Amino acid sequence: MHSFHYRNGKLFCEGVSIEALVKEHGTPLYIYSHQTLADHYSKLDQALAPLDHHICFAMKSNSNLAVMRTLANLGSGFDLVSGGELRRVIAAGGDPKKCVFAGVGKTEAEIEYALRKKIYSFNVESEPELIRINKVAARLKVVAPIAVRVNPNVDAHTHAKITTGTYENKFGIQFEHVEAVYARASKLKNLWLRGIQMHIGSQLTNVAPYEEAVNKMLGLVKKLSAKYKFEFFSIGGGIGIVYNPALASGSKEWWSTPQGKKIMTPATYAAKLIPLLKPLGLKILIEPGRFIVGNAGILVTRVEFVKKTGKKNFVVVDAGMNDLIRPTLYESYHEIVPLREARKGAALISSDVVGPVCESSDYFCKDRPLPKVGEGDYLALLSAGAYGFVMATTYNARQLAAEVMVNGKTASVVRERQPYPEIWAGEKIPAWLKK
Ligand code: LLP
Repeated sequence: MHSFHYRNGKLFCEGVSIEALVKEHGTPLYIYSHQTLADHYSKLDQALAPLDHHICFAMKSNSNLAVMRTLANLGSGFDLVSGGELRRVIAAGGDPKKCVFAGVGKTEAEIEYALRKKIYSFNVESEPELIRINKVAARLKVVAPIAVRVNPNVDAHTHAKITTGTYENKFGIQFEHVEAVYARASKLKNLWLRGIQMHIGSQLTNVAPYEEAVNKMLGLVKKLSAKYKFEFFSIGGGIGIVYNPALASGSKEWWSTPQGKKIMTPATYAAKLIPLLKPLGLKILIEPGRFIVGNAGILVTRVEFVKKTGKKNFVVVDAGMNDLIRPTLYESYHEIVPLREARKGAALISSDVVGPVCESSDYFCKDRPLPKVGEGDYLALLSAGAYGFVMATTYNARQLAAEVMVNGKTASVVRERQPYPEIWAGEKIPAWLKK
């Protein structure tokens, strides 16, 4: 579910009119629904209730402090990939003891910081990394909790740029090598072999690749956990969401469901995986990002011009690829709706919604039938809560957008629009350039 709906022809987030928000805070504006965040977290939490489980929200999908605090308040830990993200966990009031640290390039400084903050586990992506973690732990005279991230070589059938679980990818340790890597790790005195992890990709809309990967892992997990007394098995993140409701029940056009199957829900995910996982007797971790926050956020933008060429109807808006890069980076679909609901039966015009950035790739959709809009109208790009603001840049010296969180009838700014001087803060003109 999500909480963005028309009420008397006007788009609302929970109990707040979005038009009122853009009048107050300007555009481009990210808006998050607290209710949706909490609802999605709880749906997963409840679906996994038969298991001893723990949710580590993948904060790379949205690391706004208020979003993270919402989840921390519900008991969530975090899946993080850098020392910067761990500092954000602490800034948001999260607990490092509930966090897992993934990533192929952890530096010594990051490992030391995470050990000092008592991270729950490092998800180790290579043998040299194991040796590095052991070395830093020895220097600090502590024991480092680790899990090997297994690359199960299962194709998740998602977009090529977000597949992670095959041998074409840089992530994890090859399935066939895992036993030997644990044997080696068990000889390193400052490591605690606390668990094992896998992650196969993102925006999975079908449970079958999870089943395949978990089935492939089961024998290995049983054997290694008997030997090393594991505490947990993390099955990673990747649960997909509906980006295009019109196509959700199956169409080849929709990049995220090439199989044309109905989208998996927490209930179908749990129903297939719990019977496989429960007999292990381990704590099960999951690392969802998009499922929790994707449909909980939108990006609102103002129409600046409508420009007709011989071939196209360009709707030029004030948000750009620097604010939301997913359409151009992954050919991903975001539903685009006006803040004032179009009249039923109103004519649709094939439109390209484009931003002001100086790149041909600065677009949100191409040749999409949209209601007629004009200068000063507002459009909402839906399902922009995950991998939206976090991937924003200041390209073309554009300010990072403001972010607002709505809870019932209350709306709070959870990030101010970036002031211009902050774009170049930290830059210096050397004295020898000054005349
Ligand atoms: N765990 C690990 C180890 C991951 O690498 C990822 C995502 C997740 C969990 C969370 O995956 P999620 O539940 O959000 O699918 N920027 C891309 C997605 C990149 C995903 C990277 N890893 C996009 O906008 O689609």
